This record gives sequence, C-alpha cells and structure tokens, in this order.
Amino acid sequence: MSMKMIIFLFLFVCLVAQSCSAQQQEMDMYDAYYWNSLIGRGVNLGNALEAPIECDWGVRLKEEYFDLIAEAGFDSIRIPVRWSAHTEPDSPYSIEQQFLARVDWAVNQALSRKLVVIINVHHYGEMLDSPEAHKERFLAIWKQLARHYKDYSDLLYFELLNEPGGNLTSTLWNEYVTEAIKIIREDNPIRAIIVGPTQWNSISQLNNLKLPHNEKNVIVTIHYYEPFRFTHQGASWANNSEEWIGTTWLGTEAQKSQIESQLDRAAHWGWDNKRPLFLGEFGSYSKAENISRLRWTEFVRAEAEKRRISWAYWEFCAGFGIYDKSKSRWKQDLLYTLIPNSQ
Ligand code: BGC
Repeated sequence: MSMKMIIFLFLFVCLVAQSCSAQQQEMDMYDAYYWNSLIGRGVNLGNALEAPIECDWGVRLKEEYFDLIAEAGFDSIRIPVRWSAHTEPDSPYSIEQQFLARVDWAVNQALSRKLVVIINVHHYGEMLDSPEAHKERFLAIWKQLARHYKDYSDLLYFELLNEPGGNLTSTLWNEYVTEAIKIIREDNPIRAIIVGPTQWNSISQLNNLKLPHNEKNVIVTIHYYEPFRFTHQGASWANNSEEWIGTTWLGTEAQKSQIESQLDRAAHWGWDNKRPLFLGEFGSYSKAENISRLRWTEFVRAEAEKRRISWAYWEFCAGFGIYDKSKSRWKQDLLYTLIPNSQ
C-alpha cells in the first residue's frame, strides 16, 4: 500500500470515529441512563432547605460542605427544598425571590465543583393531604423553576416531588407527573427529570407508576429504609421508635436476602420498563448501634451498585449524618462504607 493510501485511510478512520462520537454525544443528551451514571455516588444535604426555615433543624449550608463532599469523592448532591413554605398561597403562586436566590447559591456551589446537583420539591405535606387543592400551585412552582433554571448546566436535575403518598394516590400522581413533565419540557428539552412512585417512593409501588411513553429522559427514584425498626430507631418522627432502640443489623443470610430481593425487584422493574434507577435516600439514624450501621450502609450501597442503581445517602450532617459538624470532621468509618477509597 502506498504512503498516500495509508494517510488517506488513516484520515478516513479518524473522520468516522469523530462522527460516531458526535452521534453518541447527541444520543447521550436524551439518555437517562447516561445522566443517571453521572449521579453515581451522592449525598443528601438534608435538614437545611427543607426545614420550614433554614436553620430551624440545626443545619445552615456552608461553602465548606461542598468542598468536603467533592473532595471525599462524591459525584452528586441532592438538595431537598421546601418550596411550599416560600411560595404565595394563591395564584400566581410566586416564589419568594430571596429564597430562590439562596437555592441558586447552593446549586452554584455544587455545579462549580462539577458535582451533579438535584433539587426537588420536599415536604409539601399540604399537597399530600389535599392533592387536588394544591395541584395548580405545585405545577406553578415547577413552571417558575423550569423558567428560572432553563439556562443552567445540564448537571442540574429536577426531582418532581419527594415521597408522594397520603391522599396523593398513584392515579392522581401519574396525572400530575405527566403535566409537570410537559411544563418543564417547554423550557428544558434535555434536563434530566427524576420521578418516584407513591408510598414514600416505595419499591412495592413501582408497578403503579406510569410515565409518559415518549419521555425518555426520566430517572426513577426509590427510597430504602428497611428494616424500618433498625433504621429509624429513636427517631422522634417515627411512632413508638423509642421501643426499637437496640435493634441490630447483623448481616445474617436472612437479613441480606431481604435487601437483595427487594433491590432485585426494583432492578427487574427498571429493566422491564427501560428506566434507570436512583436510590435517592437510604440511611440509618444515629441512635442505632454503630457497627450495625456500618454493616447495613456498606451492604445496601454495594448491592445498589451491583445493580447499577445510582444513590444518595441520607444525609450529610444531621441525625443520619456522615459528617460531625460540631467537631468539623467526617465520621470516617461511615464515610468509608460509602466511598471505600476516600482519604
Ligand atoms: C425526610 C426526612 C427524614 C428521612 C428519613 C426524608 O424523606 O424528608 O425528614 O429524616 O426521610 O426518615
């Protein structure tokens, strides 16, 4: 083969490779599996912006938290937000500008460290009690957020609602999801949207979640706190949980297979429905015995990863936390169960 021919062939191969990679990028833009892979390993910055007012639950977000999270090796941050406490009760349901600016600050802190950042609508209890009375307000919140964030990086994801439940049945929720997605897509054709099933994002309700068929860029979220008496022992908001104190998690075959089979059920649903899964919350309260917490957290995290389920630990520095803010240091043992190679 002549030299000319070799150069020609080489250039031809380069061109084909370049065009394939451009096509791949174009496909990735709408591929929820791609965006889900970027969530990877995450943590919830909980008890801050979803408290009635930031600080009410003892957490005020600080710039250094974003550094710590990025440096520890996390890929993403989920920021729960109680928009309903900062939105007018009547039409046009305007969101308080000062609060929006505070959320912008947090979003920008995460994005500037190249972390994926998920914001949601959290603790909208009034809607779970009276869904129909709050539907218009819920959609108006998303309309404003969709407009406001439309030019933000694609690494900002929207999660429609934390833990739908109460009187918000699957039938109503499926309807609200379709309408909210339509509103968001008017300004955000690419942005990844996260949606979960009812009964507090329970795996058992995945079969009742109906998503618009033509909408490909949706990641489905589940939460996992089983066995509940172990993860929520001593938690003031869980009835009778004082009585559960002392419940251990030893990692027996029976205990492990309970978790495996529930995650298998979720993973099969994901494959059958061609939707990637995100374990948006899992964790245990600090009143549980530490060694049990380490075992459980390590096991759930590793089992999620085996099934390609991205995750976000609940949460950073409050009752379930992995960071001790009073001593300004990580709970290193718990952190290792999540990020085994963290420094
Ligand atoms: C709630 C938190 C709670 C956690 C564990 C979250 O979805 O928003 O307030 O601490 O679940 O129960």
